[in-house]
Amino acid sequence: MIATVRPARKLEGAIAVPGDKSISHRALMLGSIANGVSNVRGLSQGADVQSTAACMRELGVGIEGSRILGVGLRGLQAAQGPLDCGNSGTTMRLLAGLLAGQEFGSELVGDESLSRRPMDRVVEPLREMGARASFPPLRVGGGEGLHGIEYTAPKPSAQVKSAILLAGLYASGTTAVVEPVKTRDHTEVMLAAMGVAVRSEGLRVELESAEELNVLDLDVPGDFSAAAFWMVAGGLAGRADIRLTGVGVNPTRAAFADLLTSIGFHLGRGKPRFEAGEPVADLRVQPAGSLRQLSVDASTAAAMIDELPVLAVVATQIAGTSVFAGAGELRVKESDRLTTMAQGLSAMGADIAVEGDGWVINGPRDLEGARVSSAGDHRVAMALAVAGLIAAGNTEIEGAECVDISYPDFFDHLEYLA
Ligand code: S3P
Repeated sequence: MIATVRPARKLEGAIAVPGDKSISHRALMLGSIANGVSNVRGLSQGADVQSTAACMRELGVGIEGSRILGVGLRGLQAAQGPLDCGNSGTTMRLLAGLLAGQEFGSELVGDESLSRRPMDRVVEPLREMGARASFPPLRVGGGEGLHGIEYTAPKPSAQVKSAILLAGLYASGTTAVVEPVKTRDHTEVMLAAMGVAVRSEGLRVELESAEELNVLDLDVPGDFSAAAFWMVAGGLAGRADIRLTGVGVNPTRAAFADLLTSIGFHLGRGKPRFEAGEPVADLRVQPAGSLRQLSVDASTAAAMIDELPVLAVVATQIAGTSVFAGAGELRVKESDRLTTMAQGLSAMGADIAVEGDGWVINGPRDLEGARVSSAGDHRVAMALAVAGLIAAGNTEIEGAECVDISYPDFFDHLEYLA
């Protein structure tokens, strides 16, 4: 599908972004092994989360709308065939951890993009825990019992941390992960809400095997990484007043908003509340003032890894040179985001080059509508759509249907706001 984005003179209105993708995956997986029926309202309807739901059904779990019929820690059953994780790295990596400690073996497969992505980063620590695990193809479980390890992660990754913690629920002794930079902690927060004694201190998190998990009762917060597109679109539009209701603002996710504020964006936050340990707020976006210089290093990049594509769009509008460094992980996302964003924004008249593990972007540049490719990557499609809103002329985005991965209503919301 080709989506045509027209320049927007104003962006106004209130929207509820989809349920948080990271929290939705975890709720489906942990609800599946809870002791009874969990109620999880507002799960992401995106294709990635559907992949997780389908895998859990294959493993013998009933999922009916917002109800997850938990089978207990030892109640999962071997699937009939390979588990299809679709395009979803989170599904594949977290499930690898959950399934590593099961008595039966599982094979996890994915689409072309996911099949290219590195899985040794979960296989290696799981093997250290005594799991039977190999890649490629990704096969886990069906071995002897697991034992806890202390794993010093070479790269920041919430998926790897979560895989190890999920395996740790089935391991003897203590399982600990020490991260180089703190990553999203939704797994820890949810496990704690389900009664597991998870201890976090600084960059280290640890737990012991669990006897049972209490059920969840939760309204999934809105996805901060989806809201990020509207923060940028509203900030860069001439006229804007966008209200984003019920957005998850967990500090391990919201660094992007702080960065935008520090360079001149006007983001308001109201009605703070908690949902199963996760902070939630309503956000308001108004046009930014003049923008200050931007520079991104490896730890900043890790704290806003999913927002970097749309941050590149911001950098095209800042006077001077914006340098992004230490963002090599973008190469192994749903596409090589360093390359695909540079191609898309260059076609629209931006001055952007891939240098080392990042971008060098000179601005400000007036963007022009162009025909660009999503490269089948949802965040690239949405970031280029935001660029299209501030460009002159129409932008045509090829393969725009990939927004269904995380935000099926994205173009409807865009039409409504514009
Ligand atoms: C996610 C972790 C991040 C992020 C992805 C979701 C998660 O991946 O990019 O969109 O839910 O744990 P990495 O763990 O590979 O950094």
